[in-house]
Amino acid sequence: MAGGLALLFPGHAAAASFWQVSPRSPEAASIAFLFWLVMAVAALFLFGVLGSLVYIVIRFRARPGQPDPPPNYGSLRLEVWWTLIPFGLLVVVFGFMVREMNKEIAPRPNALEVTVVGRQWWWEYRYPGGAVAANELHIPAGRQIRLNLQSGDVIHNFWVPELAGKEQTIPGTTNVWTFSAERPGTYVGACSEYCGGQHGWMRLSVIAQEPPEFDRWLAAQREPPASGVLSAHASALALYAANACGGCHTLAGVSQGKAGPDLTHVGGRSTLGAGVLRNTPENMARWLKDPQAVKPGALMPNFRLSDEQARQMAALLMDLK
Ligand code: CUA
Repeated sequence: MAGGLALLFPGHAAAASFWQVSPRSPEAASIAFLFWLVMAVAALFLFGVLGSLVYIVIRFRARPGQPDPPPNYGSLRLEVWWTLIPFGLLVVVFGFMVREMNKEIAPRPNALEVTVVGRQWWWEYRYPGGAVAANELHIPAGRQIRLNLQSGDVIHNFWVPELAGKEQTIPGTTNVWTFSAERPGTYVGACSEYCGGQHGWMRLSVIAQEPPEFDRWLAAQREPPASGVLSAHASALALYAANACGGCHTLAGVSQGKAGPDLTHVGGRSTLGAGVLRNTPENMARWLKDPQAVKPGALMPNFRLSDEQARQMAALLMDLK
């Protein structure tokens, strides 16, 4: 299992789990409770019906010489009961579900608000104060997180099973969802609504950090790259300009493109292409050389960089921590 998960989530340790009834947050615990409640009701019915069936077959079986029993077709009393009992149970489950959904969308004055934008095929996260990240959602452990879920193109579905229920990102609307992570750790998730050819590579992770550590991370994300980093990669920056990378990507102090992931701190992420590759200098160069070979259908075109050009660009991007 752990090995399989490491394959599915190349950037993460095998500790990450995709098992939806191992809640690591109060919100996921409520959802797991609902799951077990429905499971218990369904099991009660399954064994109740099967048990009665076995009992009836044995108890009322035809015996030699016995006449046919009187038919009870159309018994109003029976029909009323076997309609009312399931109906009542469904009403109870529905009530629990609505209560849970209302809890998740109720206003939270002290929550950290993050805007999530689902895109083909990656996730954009916008933090207060202007920091923009991709695919890896850093949050402070123990604090309520208020997600404003939007879409840049088609319907996606943000899902981190251990922390929160599925919530759609729909073009032209904003869905809200609240969750938290009780303890620091990495929690894996994925887009859970088919959204095109690379839906399977629309992975995400939530990285819950101790609050002071998160504050340092967020403060660093708000900063442009150190000027020393840019000047050390002058030839890569010339390539960046020559290939119009800035038309799609933001690199604070250099370009303002919005179509692709913000590159200002791309070197600090653990995966590329929403989980398709580990973020290493070699993989970055591979991605830059031919993105379509790595993730067919991604918006990033092939700029036909030479090996040396891809290496230089990768060196710049990896230094943007
Ligand atoms: Cu986005 Cu599936």
